[in-house]
Amino acid sequence: MENQVLIRIVVDSDIPELEKHMTNGPLDKHRDRYKKQLQGDVTYIAAYWNEKPVGHVLLKWNGTKDEAVTAHINHCPDIEDLLVTDEYRNKGIGQQLLYYCAKLTKQRGFERIGLGVGIENESAKRLYQRLGFQDSGIGEYQIGGTFIDEKGIEHSWKETCIYLIHKLKDL
Ligand SMILES: CC(C)(COP(=O)(O)OP(=O)(O)OC[C@H]1O[C@@H](n2cnc3c(N)ncnc32)[C@H](O)[C@@H]1OP(=O)(O)O)[C@@H](O)C(=O)NCCC(=O)NCCS
Repeated sequence: MENQVLIRIVVDSDIPELEKHMTNGPLDKHRDRYKKQLQGDVTYIAAYWNEKPVGHVLLKWNGTKDEAVTAHINHCPDIEDLLVTDEYRNKGIGQQLLYYCAKLTKQRGFERIGLGVGIENESAKRLYQRLGFQDSGIGEYQIGGTFIDEKGIEHSWKETCIYLIHKLKDL
């Protein structure tokens, strides 16, 4: 089943399909991320199931901008917005996206990679823990924001998170 999934770095021609199938969050997020990728700040990675995008993850080379984290943690690329569409979950795609990020990060010579996860997001926490991510120990912190969806409706969100780190030497 897993070999039906292809994980790769997003290219310009992928954006229309991502906009069509990956509609979670701000409409322009895919194009914004692609622009940042061209500038070298991020790598935007997607999972394809028979050519259809079914998952994505953003790898931010300069780490998170959350001050609660940067006060304690530096030189740690950050994984953001890991998402697999509902009907493709529990097939190992999330795990493969994370491995891909970890591999790229290790190739660039970093020793660790991190991510923030909502304290109530049990399924994501289970996945991260199983793959070897560990609590950074900085404690809980709040994140939040607003965005406009594809129907023009504004949404606001907030979440209490912890920050997890994976030491890449064991990969
Ligand atoms: C978190 C998320 C990305 C996980 O994606 P996923 O593709 O379902 O992840 P995986 O398939 O690799 O792992 C999920 C579970 O499926 C199981 N699994 C993996 N391959 C499997 C297979 N071939 N057959 C059956 N189960 C399988 C894993 O063991 C894991 O089990 P667990 O829940 O007991 O740990 C997804 O649930 C999601 O998009 N959630 C909403 C967004 C979100 O919360 N993102 C995280 C933000 S921090």
